[in-house]
Amino acid sequence: MHLHKFEKIWLAFGVFALIIFLSVVGVSAFQQGHTPAGGQHTVDPDKLNETAPFDDPGVHQREDGSYEVVMIGRAFGYNPGEIKIPANEEVTFTVTSEDVVHSFTIVDTNVNMMVVPGQVNHKTYTFDQPGTYLVICNEYCGNGHHFMSTEIEVVE
Ligand code: CUA
Repeated sequence: MHLHKFEKIWLAFGVFALIIFLSVVGVSAFQQGHTPAGGQHTVDPDKLNETAPFDDPGVHQREDGSYEVVMIGRAFGYNPGEIKIPANEEVTFTVTSEDVVHSFTIVDTNVNMMVVPGQVNHKTYTFDQPGTYLVICNEYCGNGHHFMSTEIEVVE
């Protein structure tokens, strides 16, 4: 097929616009994936059950008295499924995924982390009100996405 010069210019412009668009999307997705507080490191998603701390998911009290909650996201739930933590204590959530990208979003708080296979994300939070908090997945992850949730029980 023969392309006129005019068409070539438009084609080049289209490709250029696409590259710009993809760069912008890529950069913003990258930024959203970052959780500034606490830093991050990597983990082999196929070896979670033999890699600390994911070999022992759940609530752990640290030596300084604060708490760490280790959770693994997967289609379509969180491991462990039930968590009980005390109010007015510093709690650091440490999360990763064993399959696809999910999120760990505690409703009515500022805890909203990406849960990414191969990546470990942290977020520290102190619940000042006891109660039951809903955790939901904000990243579309498949058929069961809308049912992917769990609860955190915060006790006095
Ligand atoms: Cu997991 Cu959406």
